[in-house]
Amino acid sequence: MPAGGAGRVGWSLMGLLAVVPVTTRCAATPAAFEMGDARRVGFNEGWLFRGSEAEGAERPDFADQAWRALNLPHDWAIEGPFDRQLGPSTGALPYFGVGWYRKHFSLPASAQAGITSIEFDGAMANSRVWLNGQELGSRPYGYSSFAFDLTSHLRWDGSENVLAVRLAPEEGSSRWYPGAGIYRNVWLDIAGPVHVAHWGTYVTTPTVSDETAHVAIQTRVENSSGAAASVTCETVIMDAEDQEVARTSSVETISVGAAKTLDVRLDLAQPRRWDVAQPYLYRVVTSLRDGARLLDRYVTPFGVRTIAFDEAQGFLLNGKKLKLQGVCMHHDLGALGAAVNRRAIERQLEILRGMGVNAVRTSHNPPAPELLELCDQLGLLVMDEAFDMWRRLKVPNGYGRYFDQWGETDLRDMIRRDRNHPSIVLWSIGNEVPEQSDPNGWVLARRLTDICHEEDPTRAVTAAFNQVADAIRNGLAAQVDIPGFNYAAPDYQQILHDHPDWITFGSETSSCVSSRGVYHLPIEKYQKHESLQLTSYDVIAPDWAYAPDVELAAQERFPQLLGEFVWTGFDYLGEPTPYWMAPVDERDWPARSSYFGTVDLAGFPKDRYYLYKSVWTREPMVHILPHWNWAGHEGQPIPVVAYTNADEVELFLNDRSLGRKRRGAEPMEIPVGPNVSADGRFLTKYRLLWQVPYGSGVLRAVAFTNGAPVASDERRTAGLPARIRLIPDRTKIHADGVDLSFITVRIEDKDGNLHPTADNLVRFAVEGAGRVAAVDNGSPATIEPFQASQRKAFNGLCLLIVRSVSGNGGNIAVSATSDGLGTAQTTVVATSN
Ligand code: GAL
Repeated sequence: MPAGGAGRVGWSLMGLLAVVPVTTRCAATPAAFEMGDARRVGFNEGWLFRGSEAEGAERPDFADQAWRALNLPHDWAIEGPFDRQLGPSTGALPYFGVGWYRKHFSLPASAQAGITSIEFDGAMANSRVWLNGQELGSRPYGYSSFAFDLTSHLRWDGSENVLAVRLAPEEGSSRWYPGAGIYRNVWLDIAGPVHVAHWGTYVTTPTVSDETAHVAIQTRVENSSGAAASVTCETVIMDAEDQEVARTSSVETISVGAAKTLDVRLDLAQPRRWDVAQPYLYRVVTSLRDGARLLDRYVTPFGVRTIAFDEAQGFLLNGKKLKLQGVCMHHDLGALGAAVNRRAIERQLEILRGMGVNAVRTSHNPPAPELLELCDQLGLLVMDEAFDMWRRLKVPNGYGRYFDQWGETDLRDMIRRDRNHPSIVLWSIGNEVPEQSDPNGWVLARRLTDICHEEDPTRAVTAAFNQVADAIRNGLAAQVDIPGFNYAAPDYQQILHDHPDWITFGSETSSCVSSRGVYHLPIEKYQKHESLQLTSYDVIAPDWAYAPDVELAAQERFPQLLGEFVWTGFDYLGEPTPYWMAPVDERDWPARSSYFGTVDLAGFPKDRYYLYKSVWTREPMVHILPHWNWAGHEGQPIPVVAYTNADEVELFLNDRSLGRKRRGAEPMEIPVGPNVSADGRFLTKYRLLWQVPYGSGVLRAVAFTNGAPVASDERRTAGLPARIRLIPDRTKIHADGVDLSFITVRIEDKDGNLHPTADNLVRFAVEGAGRVAAVDNGSPATIEPFQASQRKAFNGLCLLIVRSVSGNGGNIAVSATSDGLGTAQTTVVATSN
C-alpha cells in the first residue's frame, strides 16, 4: 500500500452495499460516525467504458447502457491493433484520443457521516472527473496519484451516484508507450469527520543504533466535523509479527475546519533493520477516538534503516557499503500493457533479483504504489523519478506544456505519497532535461531540489544528466545533492578529477540491445540487422551507448561511484532503437518495442542477464552462448562465450575438452563505438571465449573455483520440434480476478531439449476458474495481438498469462496444441484463501 495508505483487509464496500440496497437507504440524519475495519477499499469493479468522445457523458443521466462493462485497472491501448501509423516509438498502439469511464454506485448510510474521497493511483492522461455532474478537478500528468473529496456532492436520497472520468491522452506526448486509461488502481476512502489527512503521515528514524531507534511521526489531523473536536490520538508501532512494540497517546483539540500536525517521538528498543537481505517492516497505526468510538484508523508501513552517501565509500546502507546494482524500468508490464497488476510487477522484480539487481530506477516518472510496496517487501532500493522533461519539450505534446502549472504539485505529491517507503533512497527531479543546455537551467534545478528538501530532508536529490559538459557548465549538476550521469563511463575519470567533492553514479548505463536467442555470425558491431532482430553476443549499442562490460569495468575502476542503473531491466513497449531512428526507413516495420532489456518483454532472460549476474552475484554460476543448432556450419568456428563468477571454466564438446580458461587471464576483445575507444576495440575480462568448430552434440561448460567444480551449463543440439511443455510459475493462485499464473511454453524435441529456433504456432484453451489474460513470445518485431488465445513461439519459447476469476475457486485447466506437436496440459488451482 502507498505510504500512509490505509489497510485494505476486512471491510468490503461491496459487502456493505449488499446489505444496504439503494432503495431502502434512508436519508435521515446520519448516526455518529464509527469506522469499519479499513478506511480504504478498492473501487475498481463495475465500471463502464467508451473509447471515444461522448458529448455530455459527465451528466448523471447520460445513456451509457451500451458502454462496455469492465473492471479497472484498464489500459485501452494494449488491446491494439498494432498500426505503424500510430508511431513505433510509442509501441504502434492507439494510446491517444478520448476515452470515458463511468461508474454508478451508492454508499451505505453509515458512510454519510464520514468524509468520502476517491483516490486515483494514476490515470493516463489529462483526466477530468465529475461526480453527479459536478466537476471535481483535472490532472494532466498521467503518472501522478490524486484524490478528490466527494462528500459534498454525494447523494444520500436513495438515488445513485455517478462518477464520470474523461481522459484525453495526446498524440506525441511520450517517448515510449504510456498506456491509456484508468490504468492504475482506484480507491474509495471513507474517513471519519476527524481524520488523518490524505498522505497525512510522515515517519522518519532520525537516529538508529543497535539498542534504539528514535522514530519521529508527523501526523496531520483534519477536523471536517463542523464543530470543534477533542479527540484521543493514539500512535502505536506494530512489528512484522503483529506485536505492539511502542505506543503513545494524547488528547488533542482541533478547531472547526482546521488541521493540526502532531509531532510524536517513540523509541524502539533493539530495532530490526530494513535491509536488502532482510527487509523488515514495521507499521505505525494511528487511531483517533472519541471516547470508546473509533473515528479513524490510518496505517503507515515503514522501515528502520540509515542511508548515507560518502565521497570515498559511495552508498552506505545501515553503515555498510553497498554498490548500487540497479536497472531502469519503464512502467508497462509487457503483454498486459500499462494496466497495473501486483503479481506482474512482483514477477518482474523477482526475475531481476535473480540477476543480482538491488536497485530500481522508476524511469522517468512516479511509479505505481504497488512497485514501491513490493520493493519495500523484497528489499530493493529505489530511485524515484519525477519527470522526463521540465519546461522544454522532447516531444511536441510532452509534459513540458503542463510543467509551469503542475510541476511543483506533481513533484510534491510524489514525495508526500512516497516518502515513508524505506526502499526509496534517492529522489530524481528529472531525466536528460533539455534545460541542461540553458545557461540559467540551474535555476529550475535549484528550485526543484529545494522542493524535495522541503518535503523530505532525509534523502538525497539527484537528476540524470546526459549532456555532461553542459550540465556542469550551466550549474545544474552542482544544484542537486548527487549528480547522476547517463552513459558517462568514458567521462568518470574527468568528472571525478575536476570535482573531487562530488558524489556521483551512473544514473543510466549501457543501452546494449539484443533479441533473446538470436545470434549473428561473425561477432560484429552493426547498426541494425535486416531481420529486425539483434544479436545476443551483446555488442550492439547505439552511438551514445556501450556494451555492459564498459560500465562494469568503470565501476570497478572507480569504487567511489555509487553504482549504476542499466538501461533497462526488462524490454518495454515502444522505443525500438536502433529501428525507426532518423532517417525513417519503412523496412523497420514491425519493430515496435525495445531491445534494451536484459530480460525480454515476456520475462525470459536474455544472455546479457547472465553477464550482469556473473558480476553481481556470488552463488557460483556459469552461462554459455550461443545455442548449439548450427546445421550447415559443420566444421566452421562458432564463438562460444561463457559468463561466470567462478575462477575458471572448462568447455567440452561431446565430452572432449576444449581447454580450461581463467577469468580475466585472456581478456576478450569486443567491438565498441568511437565514444568508448578510438580504435573501436574494448578488452573485457567479463567474458571467456572459445572458437569451437561446429559439430552437433553436447556443448558443456564446467566452472571451477579453487580447482573444484562449482557450476555447469550446457547446450544440446536439438532434434526437430516434437512436443510442447508448459511450466507455470505458480500452480496455486488467488481466486480474486486479479492474480496471474505465467506459464512458460517450451517447444522441445522428442528428448526434451529446447528447440532454440522453433517458431511453431501454439493454440491455447483455458477452462474452469481462469481466463487467458494475454500471450507473448518476447519478439520486439511482431504485430500478433497480445490479447489472443494463440501465439507463435519465438526462438523456442512463448508465454501464456492466465488470470483467475473473482470469487470462483477451482481448477484452471490449461492446454496447448500445435500442429504436429500434440497437446500439452497443466492445471493451476485458484483458491479463495
Ligand atoms: C536515454 C534516455 C532513455 C532512453 C535511452 C535509450 O538517453 O534517457 O529514456 O531513451 O536513452 O538508449
